[in-house]
Amino acid sequence: METGRPHSQAPQRETPPKAVIRIRDLHKRFGENHVLRGFDLTLYEKENLVVMGKSGSGKSVMIKCLVGLMEPDEGMVEVLGQDLATLDRQELDRLRSDIGFLFQGSALYDSMTVRENLEFPLRRHREKLGHFTDTLPLVTEALESVGLAHAIDLMPEELSGGMKRRVALARALILKPKLILYDEPTSGLDPITSKEIIGLMRSIQGKYGTASLIITHDVDCARVIAERILLLVDGINYAEGSYGELSQSTDPKVEAFFKK
Ligand SMILES: Nc1ncnc2c1ncn2[C@@H]1O[C@H](COP(=O)(O)OP(=O)(O)OP(=O)(O)O)[C@@H](O)[C@H]1O
Ligand SMILES: [Mg+2]
Repeated sequence: METGRPHSQAPQRETPPKAVIRIRDLHKRFGENHVLRGFDLTLYEKENLVVMGKSGSGKSVMIKCLVGLMEPDEGMVEVLGQDLATLDRQELDRLRSDIGFLFQGSALYDSMTVRENLEFPLRRHREKLGHFTDTLPLVTEALESVGLAHAIDLMPEELSGGMKRRVALARALILKPKLILYDEPTSGLDPITSKEIIGLMRSIQGKYGTASLIITHDVDCARVIAERILLLVDGINYAEGSYGELSQSTDPKVEAFFKK
């Protein structure tokens, strides 16, 4: 384990793994509230990296900076080899079609059916998949991968919390992204449903070989899914390591995360 301001460590492999995300010295303030204060993160190809931090520590702000929904005050954000600061709207849009984003709380469109919710990214990023008139095969495939093919014509209000999360997951997957960002994928779900969602995240990673950045409060989720965990404390990447390493730490700021 490393604490303080660790340099991101690549997992031990023969050829150096490629970085899918590189964040360097990221700063973000809202007035007096200096949320991110020089945050660094590297995510490698096919890796599952979990970011944990207290509520209000800036996890969602960091993820929004990653997809260009928020602009950093300082620092560099590079996604799939592209420096976000150098991209125009069109280039950013194209890059976003390679990123699946599971928003905090699912964020389905309430006035659209499940099918329409899944068609939304297909229509928005039509150029990525070529011109097609029939979206049904792609919608069905994505819903099947989360076990919800039967729910295609339902409205979000007819779904349970766990089903909504699955639909949101299917929507994040439908463009076959190289990278998936999960913001609190299990929050608000009971332990059994949380386990099911975690199982799905793992099977998706196995099937598509995507890299995943997972923000979570859920220590069990981190234990099961993370190859590496990064702790965001006081605006920086305070500590980094495997679950085993971090959970044995005697640093009070690290221990606080793992106390049951
Ligand atoms: N658009 C905004 N305008 C002003 N302040 C903001 C804005 N977005 C976030 N903040 C502030 O930035 C800080 C970090 O917020 P953020 O949503 O990233 O927290 P978080 O770590 O995701 O918390 P949680 O675990 O509760 O989701 C908070 O103090 C929040 O009030
Ligand atoms: Mg958040």
